[in-house]
Amino acid sequence: MSTDGASLYSRKNPFPATLTVNRKLTGEGSEKDTRHFEISLAGSGLDYEVGDSLGVFPTNEPELVEKLLERLGFSGDEVVPNADKVPMPLREALLKSFVITAPDKKLLGAIAEKDSSATFLKDFLDPAFKTSLEDYLWGRDVLDPLLEFSAAQFTPEEFAGCLRKLQPRLYSISSSRRVVGENVHLTVAVVRYESHGRRRAGVASSFLAERAGDEGAVPVFYHTAKHFRVPEDPATSMIMVGPGTGIAPFRAMLQERAATGATGKNWLFFGEQRSSSDFFYRDEFERYQAEGVLTKFDTAFSRDQDFKIYVQHRILENATALYDWFENGAIFYICGDASRMAKDVDAALHQVVEKAGGKTPEQAIEYIDALKKAKRYRKDVY
Ligand SMILES: Cc1cc2nc3c(=O)[nH]c(=O)nc-3n(C[C@H](O)[C@H](O)[C@H](O)COP(=O)(O)OP(=O)(O)OC[C@H]3O[C@@H](n4cnc5c(N)ncnc54)[C@H](O)[C@@H]3O)c2cc1C
Ligand SMILES: NC(=O)c1ccc[n+]([C@@H]2O[C@H](COP(=O)([O-])OP(=O)(O)OC[C@H]3O[C@@H](n4cnc5c(N)ncnc54)[C@H](OP(=O)(O)O)[C@@H]3O)[C@@H](O)[C@H]2O)c1
Repeated sequence: MSTDGASLYSRKNPFPATLTVNRKLTGEGSEKDTRHFEISLAGSGLDYEVGDSLGVFPTNEPELVEKLLERLGFSGDEVVPNADKVPMPLREALLKSFVITAPDKKLLGAIAEKDSSATFLKDFLDPAFKTSLEDYLWGRDVLDPLLEFSAAQFTPEEFAGCLRKLQPRLYSISSSRRVVGENVHLTVAVVRYESHGRRRAGVASSFLAERAGDEGAVPVFYHTAKHFRVPEDPATSMIMVGPGTGIAPFRAMLQERAATGATGKNWLFFGEQRSSSDFFYRDEFERYQAEGVLTKFDTAFSRDQDFKIYVQHRILENATALYDWFENGAIFYICGDASRMAKDVDAALHQVVEKAGGKTPEQAIEYIDALKKAKRYRKDVY
């Protein structure tokens, strides 16, 4: 099912897969709900490689769909053009085709036209009010402005025309097919929060956690990541930094390196909030350590003490050994949060080169840039 045409299935024609395992990785006392999923791709002609991601087409929460239909006074059987302009009953379109967890600007504009108390929403459509629009949208779904401005009435077709297309979500594959056959494993943090007095959930992560098992098929496709493969030479060492769900591709890579008997050394940095509740795949990693597959394994549990310890702190503590690995040709991999973690780790790497390599800040920049040019600094951050 690769995107290079080896299988019938692709983003445009997703494979109807089956969710076979839905297991919580986080334990009692955790603030998160992070899960291990196994999805069967039997019959798909799968050929993913470690480093790739799986695209998942979710469906929306049925309760939210029913609340929307109720507010709008629709039965749900009204036929409307879905996001691909194909006629579909409104309920089905709201479940499968449209974004209903974030209002589109078009909807806000239509509400402003229909409810005189909502005219200020029109201002948000001006690019000059981009920040106000973002502030307004934060934590609001399609139902919120409809409840706030109850005079706004729509025809089913008009309403459907104000919604944008639901997009698939990508998840790093956390298994090697050499080990799991026609299955694919994922490691997913379920997004949940409360806003404006209602409990909300991320569409795809809650679909996998709560609905995919009952709904039958999970439409999936592969997203190849040619830049994020295990080293081409099995003797090359790997340094992997994967806090939180960033661990996913490294579980896959370690499975692959173990299965292929790769001789290169493997160093893993993992971080989460608490060792007692958030140490994902602990047994597997400790087994790899005992077997010598995992040469070095450093963990950073940020909330086990009253000050933060993050992966970059472990990186700095190990500056001399890390620099030594770089000097001996290791490839550096990072996966997980792009907004803060990846930047902070990058800064720590520069410090490692300065401190352990005796280099100036400018020389450290050149050193890291050279790693990137040589494809020895591989990122998959989101
Ligand atoms: C290449 C790639 C690989 C990835 N791999 C993984 C992986 O292995 N595991 C994983 O878990 N994720 C991974 N992700 C992220 C994943 O694709 C989804 O973005 C994530 O699961 C959220 O999707 P969702 O549909 O559940 O949430 P959405 O429905 O998209 O909701 C998320 C949105 O909810 C809103 N929101 C969240 N919290 C709050 C709050 N407190 N208050 C108000 N609003 C809030 C924000 O607008 C946020 O953008 C990856 C992403 C990429 C691009
Ligand atoms: N899981 C959720 O509920 C949730 C909610 C919203 C967004 N997200 C996003 O989803 C993605 C994955 O989240 P995740 O649950 O896998 O893990 P995560 O939020 O990335 O957290 C994993 C670990 O990284 C730590 N961390 C926080 N800031 C850091 C930094 N600047 N540098 C290094 N480590 C840092 C966290 O510590 P502390 O938490 O103690 O600071 C935690 O120990 C990220 O993009 C995240 O931003 C997740």
